[in-house]
Amino acid sequence: MTRERDRHPGRRALLGAAALGTGAAALGGTGAAAAAEPAGRGHGLPVPAVIGHRGASGYRPEHTLGSYQLALDLGADVVEQDLVPTRDGHLVCRHENDITATTDVAAHPEFAARKTTKTVDGTALTGWFTEDFTLAELKTLRAKERIPGTRQRNTLYDGRWEVPTFEEVLVWAERQGRRRGRPVWLHVETKHPTYFRGLGLGLEERLAGLLRAHGRHRAGSPVFLQSFEPSSIQRLGGLVGCPKVVLLPAAGRPWDFTVAGDPRTVADLVTPRGLAWIAGFAQGVGPDLSLVIPRDAAGRLGTPTTLVRDAHAAGLVLHPYTARNENTFLPADFRRGTDPAAYGDALGAFRTYFEQGVDGIFSDNPDTALLARADFLGARAAG
Ligand code: G3P
Ligand code: CA
Repeated sequence: MTRERDRHPGRRALLGAAALGTGAAALGGTGAAAAAEPAGRGHGLPVPAVIGHRGASGYRPEHTLGSYQLALDLGADVVEQDLVPTRDGHLVCRHENDITATTDVAAHPEFAARKTTKTVDGTALTGWFTEDFTLAELKTLRAKERIPGTRQRNTLYDGRWEVPTFEEVLVWAERQGRRRGRPVWLHVETKHPTYFRGLGLGLEERLAGLLRAHGRHRAGSPVFLQSFEPSSIQRLGGLVGCPKVVLLPAAGRPWDFTVAGDPRTVADLVTPRGLAWIAGFAQGVGPDLSLVIPRDAAGRLGTPTTLVRDAHAAGLVLHPYTARNENTFLPADFRRGTDPAAYGDALGAFRTYFEQGVDGIFSDNPDTALLARADFLGARAAG
């Protein structure tokens, strides 16, 4: 089984308006769904919260308004955006600045000469990059499915949506919030922040400015901020009060640590000492799922680590990533059949992660996560 070809290695009470009554309840889940939890654990959200990863990217091309809308309609508690800048400094929603795999840029002859090779966070990449396009130019492109071999059905929507700006998402969220009578939570990631700062395109000030302009900059605002680079979270901490989450890849060293000569690795950050350091400037961690339950050599789930307990002891919430339906992404013990693109026992796998005590989970399939949460909460309530 293969993993998605991604390109990185990788409690404080806020009492925001509760988003209860959504999620699994809306999908016909058990009455135990969307449980009210101590406010500090959930930031006013159900615990565990379901975070629509790049929207509902299991069903729509990622980071499009169509993907975000479906995530919300399915009942996701939170909708995720990854941010990169354009040449003229606008923040747009893409998982990486290389837009070769997720847009139709290669089919635009007027941009053929923009194809280039760059080194981003130490990795040489060849393609087209957002920082070489103005927003007006980028808006002539259309989004497409990243992994059509696995998610062929999603190609139905290739070409349907533009690359959204983060400002458009803020406007969309406000409109959806008014319609639903509750705030729409966002989970916003700065991508390659050290790299972009080196280009004079610092992300954090631009992001903070947009949040401030839309009244989402306070500790009680319905926004989580996240980054794989702790220094980006620290910088954001000096700009806005929103709760912040340090992302932890399965292994390796944050790129800003590498640049600064800080020898610490992820293995250091998941220790009680490392978590206490994170708790000095963030409210949560977003670990790769394998840091919660490692997989053995055969790809089966092994013995859970102490990360959930240790992070909670440090006062941090946990939002691990990424739960997905397809066999290719599932632990071996939850796969069904041999087709990598077929769905396995995702409900069972997601529920197993919930049973570890995580506070939320990023999922490409928010409907599956909501049903798994209902199963988990129902069983817990039944004792
Ligand atoms: O941000 C949580 C999760 O999305 C991190 O992984 O690579 O999908 O941004 P990635
Ligand atoms: Ca992300």
